Amino acid sequence: MFMRDRHKNIAKLIACFAVLTTTLSLKAQTPQLGNVLEPAALNGFDLIAAPDGSGLPVGSGTASQGKLVYETQCQVCHGEKGEGNGSANRLVGGNMQSDDAPIRTVGSFWPHATTLFDYVRRAMPATAPKSLSNTEVYQVIAYILHMNGLVGLNEIIDRRSLLQIEMPNSEGFIDNSNIR
Ligand code: HEC
Repeated sequence: MFMRDRHKNIAKLIACFAVLTTTLSLKAQTPQLGNVLEPAALNGFDLIAAPDGSGLPVGSGTASQGKLVYETQCQVCHGEKGEGNGSANRLVGGNMQSDDAPIRTVGSFWPHATTLFDYVRRAMPATAPKSLSNTEVYQVIAYILHMNGLVGLNEIIDRRSLLQIEMPNSEGFIDNSNIR
């Protein structure tokens, strides 16, 4: 009799253990953290505009429209003519062929105009990134390109024309992306 009770207790113990481990392993499979993301929630992150122009949104702007955006939202850090106040925030001029250390700006260094859209939409103004509309980004990058003498004041800048802008340093990079 005593032995049978003891067996029963052991059986109960094993059953409890089984339930416990199953519960724990179920928990491990579904940690129940966070929420499932809806595609729309990714809109603010899916912002890549690549050198080949893929990812550039519809919209357009001219430098003459971008002047106002620049003066109100960029000039405080980048200077009236894009001269900045140090090497990091200078946007205009410079020369990669100079004998001294080259001054790298949008005009002298950037190999593509398309990625200027990407950078400004993603990171500027530094105090409020992603606050500009796509139209404002087209306008203000048109103005930066204009200050660098690369586009006319009333030239329409959009996903198509950005690809056609000849950047002075477009041949200044070596493409290592295929080297393994
Ligand atoms: C509060 C200061 C501030 C404001 C306002 C600001 N920027 Fe900047 N910006 C910076 C700084 C600082 C950098 C350098 C960031 C770095 O190197 O990481 C920079 C970098 C840039 C660059 C890249 C320059 C390069 O050659 O690497 C561009 C283009 C640019 N800003 C455009 C804009 C535009 C357009 C606006 C207005 C819509 C704007 N910025 C407003 C501070 C600012």
